[in-house]
Amino acid sequence: MILASKEKSTMSTSMTRERVLCLKVWIPLGVIIMVVIEVLFGVMIVAKLPLGVQLGGRVTRWLKPPTPTLPPPVSACDKIILRPFQSLTTVALASYPQSGNAWTRHLIEKAAGIYTGTVHDAEKKNTKALKYFPGNKVDYRSGRVICVKTYRYDPRHIREFEAAILILRHPFQSIISEAYRQHLLKPTMTEGERDITLKSHRWRTFVQKESLRWRNIALRWLELARNTYVIHYSDLISSPNQTLEKMVRYLNVPVRLDRMECALSQYPPLLTAEERINKWHHQRFYTTESPYSQELESTIMEYIVDVNISLMMNRQKPFPWNLTIDLY
Ligand SMILES: *[C@@H]1O[C@H](CO)[C@@H](O)[C@H](O)[C@H]1NC(C)=O
Ligand SMILES: *[C@@H]1O[C@H](CO)[C@@H](O)[C@H](O)[C@H]1NC(C)=O
Ligand SMILES: *[C@@H]1O[C@H](CO)[C@@H](O)[C@H](O)[C@H]1NC(C)=O
Repeated sequence: MILASKEKSTMSTSMTRERVLCLKVWIPLGVIIMVVIEVLFGVMIVAKLPLGVQLGGRVTRWLKPPTPTLPPPVSACDKIILRPFQSLTTVALASYPQSGNAWTRHLIEKAAGIYTGTVHDAEKKNTKALKYFPGNKVDYRSGRVICVKTYRYDPRHIREFEAAILILRHPFQSIISEAYRQHLLKPTMTEGERDITLKSHRWRTFVQKESLRWRNIALRWLELARNTYVIHYSDLISSPNQTLEKMVRYLNVPVRLDRMECALSQYPPLLTAEERINKWHHQRFYTTESPYSQELESTIMEYIVDVNISLMMNRQKPFPWNLTIDLY
């Protein structure tokens, strides 16, 4: 009994000592180890996030074996900037709609390395347009962009610019394309519905109005701008190299062949309907048949002759006469 109780007491004292040891040493030690582990995990998580970059290379290298991360491929023409305020002259990139203005803007931006702007308010707020052309957001008179898209042709507007590039595309092609943009023609139309529209009075009025606008845009910019340089869309298609180079020179930017080549590889001329639809996500129908009646055709031809005369008088390249149009 006594022995047993003695044993019990020694047992209980050793148990107390263990409890003390546990309280004073093991628990704090455990807490410290847990804290250290948590801190380490925390650091590792942070190091994987973008914040971890700020930890410096040494920490991340220590946490993770260096994996050879290849930088994303950079092409010669990927870097495009806005120039400082008032550092460029205000040059228009004028055209009738659907004349390759957007394509030309991309080519110039890539080749020159400077963003282009717009005068059209709707494009300054449209997020999709801003994604493609970040220069849309700046004031076109700020001298920060290399040239400025405009479809306007009122004399006061034209005189806001010190110079202009005028893009001319054959009205046969631009006008039908514009009919889709204005939803007079719709990609959802059946062939029958399309034929009815193309024979309607509405179509006739549309073509008369739009061909006159095509003529006036060209004549006004040729006659009223301080300095105009004409680019024919057909030249941009048949010799994109030389045509782009001429525009870059006209804009007073050093010609960089690597940038030009890069620009043209990213925005090559699109020759078939399929290529155009895929590249620009155009929802429209192309046809090889002329949508213009003989009467409309002769009206358009008269306007072309007017523009051609003005081109000659302003010492610009004449309108291509023998241009064969195989896709409307
Ligand atoms: C167009 O540019 C490419 C690349 O710089 C060149 O190889 C080619 O000869 C040029 N073509 C013409 C017609 O100038
Ligand atoms: C434009 O004028 C030039 C030079 O006179 C001429 O060769 C060409 O045929 C004209 N084109 C049109 C479409 O009138
Ligand atoms: C147009 O005429 C020019 C010179 O007269 C010629 O080089 C070109 O091949 C012709 N184009 C077409 C499409 O007939």
